[in-house]
Amino acid sequence: MYQQISGTDLMVSRIVYGCMTLPVDPRAALNALRAALDCGITMFDHADVYQRGAAEAMFAAIWRDEPGLRQRIVLQSKCGIRQAGDPTAQDPKRYDLSREHILRAVEGSLQRLATDYLDILVLHRPDALVEPDEVAEAFTRLTAAGKVRYFGVSNHNGAQIELLRRAIGAPLIVNQLQFSVLHSHLVNAGIITNQNDPPHAVRGDGTLEYCRAHDITIQAWSPLARGQVSGHLPADADERTRRTAALVAELAAQHRVAPEAIVLAWVLRHPARMQAVIGTTDPARIAACVAALGVTLSREEWYRLFTTGRGVEIR
Ligand SMILES: NC(=O)c1ccc[n+]([C@@H]2O[C@H](COP(=O)([O-])OP(=O)(O)OC[C@H]3O[C@@H](n4cnc5c(N)ncnc54)[C@H](OP(=O)(O)O)[C@@H]3O)[C@@H](O)[C@H]2O)c1
Repeated sequence: MYQQISGTDLMVSRIVYGCMTLPVDPRAALNALRAALDCGITMFDHADVYQRGAAEAMFAAIWRDEPGLRQRIVLQSKCGIRQAGDPTAQDPKRYDLSREHILRAVEGSLQRLATDYLDILVLHRPDALVEPDEVAEAFTRLTAAGKVRYFGVSNHNGAQIELLRRAIGAPLIVNQLQFSVLHSHLVNAGIITNQNDPPHAVRGDGTLEYCRAHDITIQAWSPLARGQVSGHLPADADERTRRTAALVAELAAQHRVAPEAIVLAWVLRHPARMQAVIGTTDPARIAACVAALGVTLSREEWYRLFTTGRGVEIR
């Protein structure tokens, strides 16, 4: 259920509750958060842009309900995405990892979350115009002010992390990446090296191995593939999605768990010991997800799901 994030004193649940789609209705939001806590989830993932700050602000209501909770959970937020129109009408959507933006964004998150510190600050997307020295300076200031304990990245490849690491004194402890049985490029890239006709374009080449080699915990985002293979099959689903949904249902029946548990057990079975950042707001589905921790897929089951989700047999 729990694991230590390498290189830190943070003991966290392997399943993280993602707050991107936290309901704006306070009762529904608190129900979801309480369901997560009741299931033993101790880590919560935010970003300043989730619902334009409303998700962080809504989350703060939990402190009233659960005094002393702040010290018992690990709170993570992200910065670096700026929406179109911020601050003036002609400004495009863009990434911004400038010193000023990082510092300003963290202030905003702390205010909305009604807390003095983030356990982890994550850089949401790689900024094409990043100046690693500026990131380093922002991190140094945030650490000195006691506003952030640890730092991580999201959607970064190994080379981008290396570029930052050269400037930043502090370790980068997590990398949040999309990963699920329907979106398995991280694994696929590692097994098609030097082969012709890869079934998917190679994305994230070496990222998984880089993170493992440097003790960076991978946090899988959209690990449920938004329910597509666990009960929410799109009407226009392609063949591989249909077949994967059927296989998930078959394995769920064999393991006597809900389909969600199989989809997540596939992510958690990988030896990188990833965390899975789930986004369901349904209390029953949250509990079904946590049941994944009781399922250990065999090598054969794991590969069946991998190749079915990939849509092409391996060589
Ligand atoms: N770093 C990044 O760039 C990035 C990007 C995206 C997300 N994230 C993080 O990852 C978290 C999870 O992302 P996600 O929400 O995309 O992932 P997810 O957990 O794969 O999907 C959750 C969504 O799928 C729906 N769903 C799941 N199973 C379903 C079913 N059987 N039937 C109907 N609906 C079903 C849920 O609806 P219900 O609420 O009704 O269950 C919810 O809307 C986010 O909250 C955020 O923290 C990070």
